[in-house]
Amino acid sequence: MKDSTKFIHTGRPKVGTGTPVNREITRASTLLFDKAEDLYSSDFRNYGRQGSAVHDDLAAIFCKLELGEACDFAPSGLAACTLAIMACVKSGDHVLLTDNCYGPVRSFADTFLKRMGVTTTRFNPRTGAGISELIKDNTTLIWLESPGSLTFELHDLPAIAHAAKAKGVTTAIDNTWSGGITLKPLTLGIDISVHAATKYFCGHSDIVFGAVVSSSEKIGKRITAVRKQIGHHTSPDDAYQILRGARTVHMRFARAEASALMLATWLEDCDEVQQVLHPALPNHPDHDIWARDFTGGACLFGVVLKPVAEAKVLAFINALNLFGIGYSYGGFESLCIHCDPQLNRTTSESFGGPLIRFACGLEDAADLKADIAQALPNLK
Ligand SMILES: Cc1ncc(COP(=O)(O)O)c(C=O)c1O
Repeated sequence: MKDSTKFIHTGRPKVGTGTPVNREITRASTLLFDKAEDLYSSDFRNYGRQGSAVHDDLAAIFCKLELGEACDFAPSGLAACTLAIMACVKSGDHVLLTDNCYGPVRSFADTFLKRMGVTTTRFNPRTGAGISELIKDNTTLIWLESPGSLTFELHDLPAIAHAAKAKGVTTAIDNTWSGGITLKPLTLGIDISVHAATKYFCGHSDIVFGAVVSSSEKIGKRITAVRKQIGHHTSPDDAYQILRGARTVHMRFARAEASALMLATWLEDCDEVQQVLHPALPNHPDHDIWARDFTGGACLFGVVLKPVAEAKVLAFINALNLFGIGYSYGGFESLCIHCDPQLNRTTSESFGGPLIRFACGLEDAADLKADIAQALPNLK
Protein backbone atom coordinates (compact mmCIF):
# COMPACT_ATOMS: atom_id res chain seq x y z
CA MET A 1 0.00 0.00 0.00
CA LYS A 2 1.26 3.48 -0.85
CA ASP A 3 1.80 6.03 1.95
CA SER A 4 -0.94 8.24 0.49
CA THR A 5 -3.44 5.41 1.07
CA LYS A 6 -2.06 4.55 4.51
CA PHE A 7 -2.39 8.16 5.57
CA ILE A 8 -6.12 8.11 4.92
CA HIS A 9 -6.69 4.99 7.01
CA THR A 10 -4.07 5.15 9.79
CA GLY A 11 -4.84 6.77 13.12
CA ARG A 12 -8.61 6.75 12.84
CA PRO A 13 -11.22 5.94 15.53
CA LYS A 14 -12.89 2.55 15.34
CA VAL A 15 -15.65 2.61 12.73
CA GLY A 16 -19.21 1.84 13.82
CA THR A 17 -22.69 3.14 13.15
CA GLY A 18 -22.80 6.84 13.86
CA THR A 19 -19.07 7.24 14.54
CA PRO A 20 -17.47 10.37 13.19
CA VAL A 21 -14.76 10.05 10.54
CA ASN A 22 -12.34 11.95 12.75
CA ARG A 23 -11.39 11.48 16.39
CA GLU A 24 -12.93 13.97 18.83
CA ILE A 25 -10.55 16.43 20.42
CA THR A 26 -10.07 15.95 24.17
CA ARG A 27 -8.90 19.07 25.96
CA ALA A 28 -7.52 18.29 29.39
CA SER A 29 -4.97 19.11 31.98
CA THR A 30 -6.42 16.91 34.75
CA LEU A 31 -7.36 13.34 33.91
CA LEU A 32 -9.53 11.59 36.49
CA PHE A 33 -9.06 8.11 37.93
CA ASP A 34 -11.65 5.65 39.15
CA LYS A 35 -9.48 4.50 42.02
CA ALA A 36 -6.78 6.09 44.13
CA GLU A 37 -4.78 2.89 43.65
CA ASP A 38 -4.30 3.82 39.99
CA LEU A 39 -2.94 7.33 40.54
CA TYR A 40 0.70 6.21 40.49
CA SER A 41 0.34 3.37 37.99
CA SER A 42 2.29 3.66 34.75
CA ASP A 43 -0.55 1.86 32.92
CA PHE A 44 -2.55 5.06 32.47
CA ARG A 45 -2.05 8.43 30.85
CA ASN A 46 -2.14 10.46 34.04
CA TYR A 47 -2.09 14.12 33.00
CA GLY A 48 -2.82 16.34 29.99
CA ARG A 49 0.87 16.88 29.30
CA GLN A 50 1.10 13.21 28.31
CA GLY A 51 -0.99 13.81 25.18
CA SER A 52 -4.37 12.51 24.06
CA ALA A 53 -5.93 10.02 21.66
CA VAL A 54 -5.46 12.52 18.82
CA HIS A 55 -1.74 12.63 19.64
CA ASP A 56 -1.66 8.82 19.53
CA ASP A 57 -3.31 8.86 16.09
CA LEU A 58 -0.81 11.41 14.84
CA ALA A 59 2.12 9.43 16.28
CA ALA A 60 0.89 6.37 14.37
CA ILE A 61 0.94 8.43 11.16
CA PHE A 62 4.49 9.69 11.74
CA CYS A 63 5.73 6.19 12.57
CA LYS A 64 4.17 4.92 9.31
CA LEU A 65 5.65 7.83 7.40
CA GLU A 66 9.19 7.24 8.63
CA LEU A 67 8.95 3.50 9.28
CA GLY A 68 9.85 4.37 12.86
CA GLU A 69 9.09 2.71 16.17
CA ALA A 70 8.24 5.72 18.34
CA CYS A 71 7.21 9.35 17.94
CA ASP A 72 7.29 12.31 20.30
CA PHE A 73 5.88 15.77 19.68
CA ALA A 74 7.25 19.18 20.48
CA PRO A 75 5.71 22.65 20.41
CA SER A 76 7.67 23.67 17.27
CA GLY A 77 9.97 22.22 14.68
CA LEU A 78 12.89 23.90 16.41
CA ALA A 79 11.78 22.43 19.76
CA ALA A 80 11.69 19.00 18.08
CA CYS A 81 15.28 19.50 16.89
CA THR A 82 16.51 20.62 20.31
CA LEU A 83 14.57 17.84 22.07
CA ALA A 84 16.29 15.23 19.91
CA ILE A 85 19.67 16.83 20.53
CA MET A 86 19.16 17.11 24.30
CA ALA A 87 18.22 13.43 24.45
CA CYS A 88 21.59 12.51 22.93
CA VAL A 89 24.05 14.63 24.91
CA LYS A 90 25.29 15.31 28.41
CA SER A 91 27.89 17.68 29.76
CA GLY A 92 31.34 16.87 28.34
CA ASP A 93 29.99 15.38 25.10
CA HIS A 94 30.76 16.47 21.56
CA VAL A 95 28.35 16.96 18.65
CA LEU A 96 29.14 16.95 14.93
CA LEU A 97 26.82 19.48 13.33
CA THR A 98 26.32 19.81 9.60
CA ASP A 99 27.35 23.23 8.38
CA ASN A 100 24.16 23.62 6.31
CA CYS A 101 21.71 23.07 9.16
CA TYR A 102 18.74 25.26 10.00
CA GLY A 103 20.18 28.46 11.53
CA PRO A 104 18.42 28.35 14.92
CA VAL A 105 19.79 24.81 15.49
CA ARG A 106 23.26 26.20 14.94
CA SER A 107 22.49 28.99 17.42
CA PHE A 108 21.25 26.40 19.93
CA ALA A 109 24.59 24.62 19.66
CA ASP A 110 26.56 27.86 19.94
CA THR A 111 24.66 29.10 23.00
CA PHE A 112 22.70 26.55 25.04
CA LEU A 113 24.84 23.48 24.31
CA LYS A 114 28.01 25.47 24.89
CA ARG A 115 26.67 26.67 28.25
CA MET A 116 25.87 23.07 29.18
CA GLY A 117 29.47 22.02 28.46
CA VAL A 118 28.71 20.29 25.14
CA THR A 119 31.15 21.16 22.35
CA THR A 120 30.29 21.25 18.66
CA THR A 121 32.25 20.86 15.45
CA ARG A 122 30.65 21.92 12.20
CA PHE A 123 31.39 19.70 9.25
CA ASN A 124 31.08 20.14 5.51
CA PRO A 125 27.78 18.52 4.48
CA ARG A 126 29.55 16.66 1.66
CA THR A 127 31.94 14.90 4.06
CA GLY A 128 30.44 11.41 3.59
CA ALA A 129 32.40 8.45 4.97
CA GLY A 130 35.17 10.89 5.98
CA ILE A 131 33.00 11.78 8.98
CA SER A 132 34.73 8.88 10.71
CA GLU A 133 37.87 11.00 11.09
CA LEU A 134 35.88 13.77 12.80
CA ILE A 135 34.36 11.49 15.42
CA LYS A 136 36.08 12.00 18.79
CA ASP A 137 36.02 9.73 21.83
CA ASN A 138 33.32 11.95 23.35
CA THR A 139 31.20 12.39 20.19
CA THR A 140 27.67 11.19 20.91
CA LEU A 141 25.62 12.76 18.11
CA ILE A 142 25.89 13.62 14.42
CA TRP A 143 23.26 16.18 13.42
CA LEU A 144 22.26 16.13 9.76
CA GLU A 145 20.02 17.99 7.33
CA SER A 146 19.71 16.86 3.72
CA PRO A 147 19.29 18.95 1.69
CA GLY A 148 20.40 21.87 3.83
CA SER A 149 17.75 24.50 4.49
CA LEU A 150 19.28 27.24 2.35
CA THR A 151 22.14 25.74 0.41
CA PHE A 152 20.72 22.37 -0.64
CA GLU A 153 23.77 20.11 -0.30
CA LEU A 154 22.95 16.44 0.28
CA HIS A 155 24.64 14.06 2.70
CA ASP A 156 25.75 10.56 1.84
CA LEU A 157 23.45 9.23 4.57
CA PRO A 158 24.27 5.49 4.33
CA ALA A 159 28.00 6.26 4.52
CA ILE A 160 27.55 8.57 7.53
CA ALA A 161 25.21 6.11 9.27
CA HIS A 162 27.70 3.30 8.72
CA ALA A 163 30.62 5.32 10.12
CA ALA A 164 28.54 6.46 13.10
CA LYS A 165 27.32 2.95 13.95
CA ALA A 166 30.89 1.63 13.87
CA LYS A 167 31.76 4.11 16.64
CA GLY A 168 28.51 3.94 18.61
CA VAL A 169 27.42 7.48 17.71
CA THR A 170 23.74 8.38 17.30
CA THR A 171 22.66 10.03 14.04
CA ALA A 172 19.71 12.43 13.75
CA ILE A 173 18.40 14.26 10.71
CA ASP A 174 16.17 17.26 10.23
CA ASN A 175 13.96 15.72 7.50
CA THR A 176 11.64 18.68 7.10
CA TRP A 177 12.46 19.37 3.43
CA SER A 178 11.32 15.97 2.15
CA GLY A 179 8.37 15.78 4.54
CA GLY A 180 9.41 12.14 4.98
CA ILE A 181 7.60 11.63 1.69
CA THR A 182 10.56 11.59 -0.66
CA LEU A 183 13.28 10.55 1.82
CA LYS A 184 13.09 7.76 4.42
CA PRO A 185 16.29 8.28 6.43
CA LEU A 186 15.60 5.55 9.01
CA THR A 187 15.72 2.99 6.17
CA LEU A 188 19.22 4.30 5.34
CA GLY A 189 20.50 3.64 8.87
CA ILE A 190 19.79 7.00 10.52
CA ASP A 191 18.54 6.74 14.12
CA ILE A 192 16.24 9.75 14.53
CA SER A 193 14.23 11.78 12.02
CA VAL A 194 12.87 15.18 12.98
CA HIS A 195 10.12 17.22 11.33
CA ALA A 196 8.90 20.77 11.50
CA ALA A 197 5.29 19.66 10.95
CA THR A 198 4.67 23.40 10.76
CA LYS A 199 5.41 23.05 7.05
CA TYR A 200 3.68 20.44 4.87
CA PHE A 201 1.65 18.67 7.57
CA CYS A 202 0.04 21.86 8.78
CA GLY A 203 -0.07 23.06 5.18
CA HIS A 204 -1.87 26.30 5.95
CA SER A 205 0.81 28.42 7.68
CA ASP A 206 -1.14 28.76 10.90
CA ILE A 207 0.35 26.20 13.33
CA VAL A 208 3.83 25.61 14.70
CA PHE A 209 4.48 21.96 15.62
CA GLY A 210 7.32 19.42 15.69
CA ALA A 211 7.76 15.65 15.61
CA VAL A 212 10.67 13.38 16.52
CA VAL A 213 10.54 9.87 15.08
CA SER A 214 12.88 7.21 16.46
CA SER A 215 14.13 4.10 14.71
CA SER A 216 13.87 1.98 17.86
CA GLU A 217 11.82 1.86 21.03
CA LYS A 218 15.03 2.26 23.00
CA ILE A 219 15.86 5.61 21.38
CA GLY A 220 12.19 6.60 21.58
CA LYS A 221 12.25 6.03 25.35
CA ARG A 222 15.25 8.35 25.65
CA ILE A 223 13.41 11.07 23.72
CA THR A 224 10.19 10.60 25.70
CA ALA A 225 12.07 10.78 29.00
CA VAL A 226 13.62 14.15 28.07
CA ARG A 227 10.32 15.44 26.70
CA LYS A 228 8.74 14.69 30.06
CA GLN A 229 11.67 16.11 32.01
CA ILE A 230 11.52 19.45 30.20
CA GLY A 231 7.72 19.55 30.10
CA HIS A 232 7.07 19.87 26.37
CA HIS A 233 3.36 19.88 25.62
CA THR A 234 1.46 20.25 22.35
CA SER A 235 -2.17 21.26 22.31
CA PRO A 236 -4.73 18.66 21.21
CA ASP A 237 -6.26 21.27 18.90
CA ASP A 238 -2.94 21.74 17.14
CA ALA A 239 -2.34 17.98 17.01
CA TYR A 240 -5.80 17.60 15.47
CA GLN A 241 -5.02 20.14 12.75
CA ILE A 242 -1.69 18.50 11.96
CA LEU A 243 -3.46 15.14 11.74
CA ARG A 244 -6.06 16.73 9.46
CA GLY A 245 -3.24 18.07 7.27
CA ALA A 246 -1.64 14.63 7.16
CA ARG A 247 -4.72 13.22 5.40
CA THR A 248 -4.07 15.41 2.35
CA VAL A 249 -0.33 15.98 2.61
CA HIS A 250 0.67 13.69 -0.27
CA MET A 251 -1.59 15.43 -2.75
CA ARG A 252 -0.51 18.91 -1.68
CA PHE A 253 3.14 17.90 -1.55
CA ALA A 254 3.05 16.40 -5.06
CA ARG A 255 1.57 19.55 -6.56
CA ALA A 256 4.09 21.88 -4.91
CA GLU A 257 6.93 19.46 -5.72
CA ALA A 258 5.97 19.42 -9.43
CA SER A 259 5.73 23.22 -9.56
CA ALA A 260 9.15 23.58 -7.91
CA LEU A 261 10.78 21.21 -10.38
CA MET A 262 9.18 22.97 -13.35
CA LEU A 263 10.30 26.40 -12.13
CA ALA A 264 13.77 25.18 -11.19
CA THR A 265 14.26 23.64 -14.64
CA TRP A 266 13.06 26.81 -16.38
CA LEU A 267 15.13 29.13 -14.18
CA GLU A 268 18.33 27.22 -15.06
CA ASP A 269 18.09 28.74 -18.54
CA CYS A 270 17.28 32.28 -17.48
CA ASP A 271 20.01 34.88 -18.22
CA GLU A 272 19.93 36.33 -14.71
CA VAL A 273 20.63 32.95 -13.05
CA GLN A 274 24.05 31.49 -12.27
CA GLN A 275 22.97 28.20 -10.66
CA VAL A 276 19.77 26.55 -9.48
CA LEU A 277 20.03 24.56 -6.25
CA HIS A 278 17.57 21.70 -6.60
CA PRO A 279 18.94 18.18 -6.12
CA ALA A 280 16.60 16.64 -8.72
CA LEU A 281 18.34 18.66 -11.46
CA PRO A 282 21.12 16.69 -13.17
CA ASN A 283 23.47 19.71 -12.78
CA HIS A 284 23.20 19.64 -8.99
CA PRO A 285 26.52 18.45 -7.50
CA ASP A 286 24.75 15.82 -5.37
CA HIS A 287 22.29 14.66 -8.01
CA ASP A 288 23.63 11.08 -7.93
CA ILE A 289 22.96 10.83 -4.19
CA TRP A 290 19.49 12.25 -4.77
CA ALA A 291 18.79 9.66 -7.48
CA ARG A 292 19.96 6.87 -5.16
CA ASP A 293 18.27 7.89 -1.89
CA PHE A 294 15.26 10.08 -2.71
CA THR A 295 12.04 9.26 -4.54
CA GLY A 296 11.28 12.87 -5.46
CA GLY A 297 11.85 16.50 -4.62
CA ALA A 298 9.98 19.05 -2.52
CA CYS A 299 8.48 22.51 -2.81
CA LEU A 300 11.66 24.36 -1.88
CA PHE A 301 14.74 25.25 -3.95
CA GLY A 302 17.42 27.90 -4.17
CA VAL A 303 18.63 30.13 -6.98
CA VAL A 304 22.10 31.70 -7.14
CA LEU A 305 21.83 34.85 -9.20
CA LYS A 306 24.62 36.25 -11.36
CA PRO A 307 26.45 38.88 -9.30
CA VAL A 308 24.15 41.89 -8.94
CA ALA A 309 23.65 44.68 -6.37
CA GLU A 310 21.55 43.69 -3.36
CA ALA A 311 19.12 46.53 -4.13
CA LYS A 312 18.22 44.78 -7.41
CA VAL A 313 17.67 41.46 -5.63
CA LEU A 314 15.31 43.19 -3.22
CA ALA A 315 13.55 44.96 -6.12
CA PHE A 316 13.04 41.57 -7.82
CA ILE A 317 11.49 40.03 -4.69
CA ASN A 318 9.36 43.11 -4.07
CA ALA A 319 8.05 42.90 -7.65
CA LEU A 320 6.69 39.35 -7.17
CA ASN A 321 2.92 39.34 -6.80
CA LEU A 322 2.15 35.69 -6.05
CA PHE A 323 5.17 34.88 -3.86
CA GLY A 324 4.78 36.26 -0.36
CA ILE A 325 7.88 37.55 1.38
CA GLY A 326 8.23 35.38 4.45
CA TYR A 327 10.00 32.48 6.12
CA SER A 328 8.88 28.87 6.03
CA TYR A 329 7.38 26.64 3.34
CA GLY A 330 4.84 23.86 2.86
CA GLY A 331 1.82 26.15 3.11
CA PHE A 332 -0.71 26.75 0.33
CA GLU A 333 0.94 30.02 -0.63
CA SER A 334 4.24 30.50 -2.43
CA LEU A 335 7.05 32.38 -0.71
CA CYS A 336 10.40 33.92 -1.61
CA ILE A 337 13.28 35.20 0.53
CA HIS A 338 16.82 36.43 -0.07
CA CYS A 339 19.21 34.28 1.95
CA ASP A 340 22.59 36.02 2.11
CA PRO A 341 22.02 37.80 5.46
CA GLN A 342 21.40 34.43 7.17
CA LEU A 343 24.11 32.36 5.44
CA ASN A 344 26.51 31.48 8.22
CA ARG A 345 28.70 28.60 7.15
CA THR A 346 32.24 27.86 8.21
CA THR A 347 33.30 24.91 6.06
CA SER A 348 31.67 25.52 2.68
CA GLU A 349 32.64 27.68 -0.26
CA SER A 350 30.56 30.77 -1.12
CA PHE A 351 28.39 30.85 -4.23
CA GLY A 352 29.78 33.99 -5.85
CA GLY A 353 26.33 35.52 -6.37
CA PRO A 354 23.25 36.39 -4.32
CA LEU A 355 21.17 33.43 -3.12
CA ILE A 356 17.38 33.52 -3.09
CA ARG A 357 14.95 30.75 -2.09
CA PHE A 358 11.58 29.92 -3.56
CA ALA A 359 8.91 27.87 -1.77
CA CYS A 360 6.14 26.77 -4.10
CA GLY A 361 2.60 26.69 -2.82
CA LEU A 362 -0.50 25.38 -4.50
CA GLU A 363 -1.05 28.09 -7.11
CA ASP A 364 -1.01 27.05 -10.76
CA ALA A 365 2.62 26.54 -11.84
CA ALA A 366 2.17 28.56 -15.05
CA ASP A 367 0.96 31.54 -13.00
CA LEU A 368 4.01 31.26 -10.72
CA LYS A 369 6.31 31.15 -13.74
CA ALA A 370 4.63 34.22 -15.26
CA ASP A 371 5.00 36.05 -11.95
CA ILE A 372 8.75 35.34 -11.76
CA ALA A 373 9.17 36.24 -15.44
CA GLN A 374 7.55 39.66 -14.98
CA ALA A 375 9.82 40.39 -11.97
CA LEU A 376 13.12 39.27 -13.57
CA PRO A 377 13.80 42.57 -15.42
CA ASN A 378 14.40 44.12 -11.97
CA LEU A 379 17.70 42.19 -11.88
CA LYS A 380 19.03 43.90 -15.02
C1 LIG B 1 14.59 22.79 8.01
C2 LIG B 1 13.84 23.39 9.16
N1 LIG B 1 13.91 22.79 10.36
C3 LIG B 1 13.27 23.28 11.42
C4 LIG B 1 12.51 24.42 11.32
C5 LIG B 1 11.84 24.95 12.55
O1 LIG B 1 10.47 24.77 12.49
P1 LIG B 1 9.48 25.65 13.37
O2 LIG B 1 9.30 26.91 12.62
O3 LIG B 1 8.25 24.83 13.47
O4 LIG B 1 10.14 25.86 14.69
C6 LIG B 1 12.40 25.08 10.10
C7 LIG B 1 11.59 26.31 9.99
O5 LIG B 1 11.71 27.07 9.07
C8 LIG B 1 13.08 24.55 8.99
O6 LIG B 1 13.05 25.14 7.79
